Amino acid sequence: MRRLASRSLRAIGIAAVAAVGIVALMRAHPAAQPAAAPAPPAATNVQHGKAVYDVRCIECHGATGQGDGPSAAYLMPRPRDFTAGKYKIRSTETGSVPTDDDLIATVRRGIYGSAMPGWDRILPDGDIADVVQYVKTLSPQFAQPPRAVRPSTATPSSPESIARGQQVYDRLQCAKCHGTDGRGAGAVATAFEDDWRQPLAAANLTEPWTFHGGASARDVYLRFRTGMMGTPMPSFADAASDAEMWDLANYVVSLARKPVWSMTADEVTAFYAQQDAEARANPIKRGEHLVDTLNCVLCHSPIDEKKRMLPGMRLAGGLRFRIEPFGEFPTGNLTSDKDTGLGNWSDDEIKRCITKGTTKDGVRLLPYPMDWASFSNMKPSDLDAIVAYLRTVPPVVNRVPKPRYTFLPMYLWGKFNMLILGGDPPITIYTGNAGTRGAR
Ligand code: HEC
Ligand code: HEC
Ligand code: HEC
Repeated sequence: MRRLASRSLRAIGIAAVAAVGIVALMRAHPAAQPAAAPAPPAATNVQHGKAVYDVRCIECHGATGQGDGPSAAYLMPRPRDFTAGKYKIRSTETGSVPTDDDLIATVRRGIYGSAMPGWDRILPDGDIADVVQYVKTLSPQFAQPPRAVRPSTATPSSPESIARGQQVYDRLQCAKCHGTDGRGAGAVATAFEDDWRQPLAAANLTEPWTFHGGASARDVYLRFRTGMMGTPMPSFADAASDAEMWDLANYVVSLARKPVWSMTADEVTAFYAQQDAEARANPIKRGEHLVDTLNCVLCHSPIDEKKRMLPGMRLAGGLRFRIEPFGEFPTGNLTSDKDTGLGNWSDDEIKRCITKGTTKDGVRLLPYPMDWASFSNMKPSDLDAIVAYLRTVPPVVNRVPKPRYTFLPMYLWGKFNMLILGGDPPITIYTGNAGTRGAR
């Protein structure tokens, strides 16, 4: 059980702003080089690194580095568990730890597509070098030296190199997970999990600004050459010659579509029209995307002690919130189970609940933790898509209890504390499943 003051929410806000800022900075300095290797770690560096860690990193990565900080429950992907020694962004062979330079570069620029902020404009280089030395002490794998890959000289991009790279893409069957077009068309595998059984999406190769490890040909080369440990993205070390891998990297870079921020007004209009058409053609996919990005999944799936989603319980409800002074609110089961989930709700009942906060039984939900008011002017087609998708979520039997409201005197005291004394309304998220799994 953990207590989350609204401090955590603020931290997430700050992290989000920092992340956006860093993306902007990267665009301004695309060729930014990682810092030079730090001096060999002295005990004082590690000690200082821990001090930096305890202030800056603990919120997400947790006091003992297990990726279970107070904010972790709100984040997808979850923060890294440093005790496992599995790193995605490396210039080293698969199975090896990253180099100091790899870690420093990651901490400096942050990880796109995640809450991990870029620290280069926040922390001085010395702090970054020291915190990296401290993070290394958290996993025994760092007793082995890193096995760095030695890439040959890059092949500059050209139409010929890109054409050869496309053949390598076909031969190595990247399309099985990334699709023939780099954005999932015809992919055989569409749902992925990391080693901690947390959901994960295969990168959209046409949107390189979302790549965790950077978008240059060298970054891309290193990702598939060395693999992304802890994820299904394999290493292709022996599958192709070095020259072929540079061609492949050039091909992947060539797949990039124009980002919205570089489009003209007409292009933006056309782009969104195309997205709308795709959403209409595949409402279930659109619905899944909305259910992920509107955080229905984060709130409606119970978590374990490490703040990880319980396996097999995606959208099965039972995550319990306590909100002072109002009471305790376990989230409902959104799977298609007829008895304990939404299987017996009509389409209109589900839509009314999402947009007006009124359940099938006519009970009015508080406007939080589920902020249904902000869902109230969703496009009808998006609401249809959410319902269409929820119908496809395999049934999980999980009977979730009703909310428990605080009794009146406590409620009044809580209100007084909040409104007159200016206290924050604290939110607690409990670990474990508040429901009864398997009970009809
Ligand atoms: C706001 C939350 C947050 C904070 C604060 C944060 N991180 Fe992270 N960090 C993450 C998340 C989320 C990931 C996982 C991203 C992923 O899997 O793509 C991550 C991943 C990492 C990784 C793994 C890189 C790899 O190759 O796999 C390192 C190293 C790291 N963080 C270091 C730090 C350090 C050092 C600090 C403090 C200076 C810090 N983080 C602060 C959220 C955070
Ligand atoms: C078994 C499925 C699978 C195959 C095969 C596969 N990938 Fe991936 N790939 C993934 C997944 C899953 C991710 C997302 C990892 C993450 O977000 O942590 C990914 C991520 C990536 C990324 C993003 C890197 C980053 O910095 O975030 C690139 C680039 C990439 N893959 C290229 C390739 C290429 C090129 C091939 C073929 C040589 C390939 N992949 C084959 C599953 C696969
Ligand atoms: C911030 C957390 C949060 C988010 C995000 C959230 N919900 Fe909820 N939801 C809750 C809580 C808590 C309840 C139960 C409230 C109560 O009983 O008073 C609930 C109740 C529901 C119910 C009623 C379930 C029942 O059995 O009575 C439905 C349906 C629902 N949510 C659907 C959704 C959908 C769809 C989304 C995404 C568009 C979503 N929720 C996003 C927290 C959340």
